[in-house]
Amino acid sequence: MSSSKVTTRSLAALKVCGEPAVFLTAYDYPTATFADRAGVDMLLVGDSAAMTMLGHENTLSIGMTEMLVLTKAVCRGAKRAFVIGDLPFLSYQPSDEIAVKNAGAFIQAGCDAVKCEGGARVMNRVGAIADAGIAVMGHIGLTPQSLGQMGGYCVQGKSLDAAQHLADDAKALEAAGAFAILIEAVPAQTAAYVRDAVNIPVYGIGAGPHVDGQLVISHDILGSFVGDIKPRFIKRFADLDQVVEGALRQYAEEVRTRQFPGPEHAYPIEADQESAIIEKRKAGAAG
Ligand code: KIV
Repeated sequence: MSSSKVTTRSLAALKVCGEPAVFLTAYDYPTATFADRAGVDMLLVGDSAAMTMLGHENTLSIGMTEMLVLTKAVCRGAKRAFVIGDLPFLSYQPSDEIAVKNAGAFIQAGCDAVKCEGGARVMNRVGAIADAGIAVMGHIGLTPQSLGQMGGYCVQGKSLDAAQHLADDAKALEAAGAFAILIEAVPAQTAAYVRDAVNIPVYGIGAGPHVDGQLVISHDILGSFVGDIKPRFIKRFADLDQVVEGALRQYAEEVRTRQFPGPEHAYPIEADQESAIIEKRKAGAAG
């Protein structure tokens, strides 16, 4: 792994070498810092923050204001990693002009690129953003902003026809100027079929191994997601829920039993000043 800043060019080079890119969501400064130190190549400030960070049921209720606060924190922590800002619901759908303005706000916040959901139907938006000189990633397969239309978080691309439809979407995004595509929740052979159809990198989340890199949601792999959604593709690499809850229970216990704070946590003063304060308190003359 090179220590220099990841760019669209180095990501394209990784694909040529057949080396998978390591891609993770991040929504705050500490996670971005730890991920950067761990050598993660790409960070997505996903609109999944609505669910992971803000406790909403889906991704539809987060807007640009919240996304930009989280994005600036991530960008401060990411020194090497390539940071992608996720255009939230209704921040690009209404018009090319709105799409470019909001994509530009992510770049001004420190991002290297933006991402938007949809295939051929958003190719004009992708083209407008790319024409503004902004690197843009497409997102196809399961697209959570279309939750109502899809009728739930369902696996996509389960037939040859559906795989062909996704491949056509990928080609449309590539032609519009996308530098990469993310494909979500499809069978491994469907992802491979889509990857074969284009020359730009195709990254997967829940799309099997035949892609140019793997994205996961940080809360899913660290065990800190609070909610009932447990997709099949998640592997837990830590149990932060247990670590955090256990630590907080212990803290509560130690406060209640007066074990915390101990003398080592208190600020010392000169002995004569301490005695003087004690004497005055005893005399009831404080203040
Ligand atoms: O918001 C997000 O984290 C995403 C992933 C689920 C792909 O878009």
